[in-house]
Amino acid sequence: MRFSDLKKIKQQASEPASGRRGRPAPDRGPVAEEELAGARRPEPPAAQPRPVRRPEPPIAEKPAPEPLSKQPEAPAAEPGPGAAAPERPASNYESPQKSRRDARAKASVPQAAFKDLDARAREVYSTLLEQSGALIKAVDQPYTEKYEAVVSVCRLVSDTLRTNGVLLNYTTFSTADDYLLAHTANTTILALAMGLEAGLEEPELSLLGFCSMAHDIGMTEYSSLYNSPERLGEKEFAEMSLHAEAGVAKLERIVDLDYRIKERARHIVLQTHERDDGSGYPDRLSDEEIDPLAQLISIADVYEALTHPRAWREAMNPADAVRDLVEKEGRGFNAMAVKALISAISIYPPGSIVALSSGEIARVIKATRGFLTKPLVEILLDQDFSRLRPYKLDLFEHPLVSIERPVPFKELEARNPKFAAGVEMSRWWVEW
Ligand SMILES: [Fe+2]
Repeated sequence: MRFSDLKKIKQQASEPASGRRGRPAPDRGPVAEEELAGARRPEPPAAQPRPVRRPEPPIAEKPAPEPLSKQPEAPAAEPGPGAAAPERPASNYESPQKSRRDARAKASVPQAAFKDLDARAREVYSTLLEQSGALIKAVDQPYTEKYEAVVSVCRLVSDTLRTNGVLLNYTTFSTADDYLLAHTANTTILALAMGLEAGLEEPELSLLGFCSMAHDIGMTEYSSLYNSPERLGEKEFAEMSLHAEAGVAKLERIVDLDYRIKERARHIVLQTHERDDGSGYPDRLSDEEIDPLAQLISIADVYEALTHPRAWREAMNPADAVRDLVEKEGRGFNAMAVKALISAISIYPPGSIVALSSGEIARVIKATRGFLTKPLVEILLDQDFSRLRPYKLDLFEHPLVSIERPVPFKELEARNPKFAAGVEMSRWWVEW
């Protein structure tokens, strides 16, 4: 469904669209390498008893579990040629059992209310979006001092993520004026969340954030292609794939980027479209030839693209996108990166529309760290897909209610088109 169709439906709708308003979207273009095959859905588990509706408790941020322990299959790639600083990360994975124990042990710590976390997350997201636009604009000038400003906002994002997982909920937004703005900001949040799960510390985390912000700066050279309303053909895709090299060239214009960091940043930005199995571009690198930070950005980039609409296709349900990427582990994506993604956003990521064992339909609004199937959800529809007064339910606190399945958007459209239109409209970021 195109944005214009949604607008018509929305005008007919009597229901408000979750408090956020949209605006017309421009023609937005495809990135062919991000167009991956569809995913199968998991078998639904046996139905659980219907929950007893109870007053909504204050929703709290659960503490982060320790970083995951090192897995034997996690590759420790060698530094790229000429890399000087900083040091490469050592993967630091830990057993899921220990993560769960730690999370349970820390769950009694007093926590902030959801609305406070949400307000702070919105503020941080807005700042990041602003910086994303500023960077993309600045690197089209002959020179700019942008490194420190970008790293500063990336530190703000990673510090926020440590205590406020609600920020990940904001990665569901798109920017209508230029999809690159939200795409860059969302990819950065996702990559930093994965970096934290992988146990990265400064200065690796800052470098990861900076390179995520810079990974598509070369794209503005190919705006007619990335803004194309049609899916790219082979020739056009080959032309647009040059944006990786164009981005590296633009790094030279960032004059406050230290030369020791710049060398590593060049490799990372260039490698974010490489794939573990050698199917990427521009150099068809594989495995340890690809910088671990590029591996993280690579999967964050693709997950973000899959879960946001393009002019010629609809967005994938986040839960289906995760499943799709998990199935591609070992073929296109690095196992360490896939694990970090799942740890960061779980298997029902924020933005997923899901059917609960109670029959109600809900939207995931925050993953519970260490518990992949127990997110905080907002229940929006009853079992007949009719609107009900929304309320939040923390599935971690209500073990009798479980997620039965992701709900395909087409099913939502068929059962309650007005609600589906509202969901689509609410994904567009507008600041008033
Ligand atoms: Fe990208």
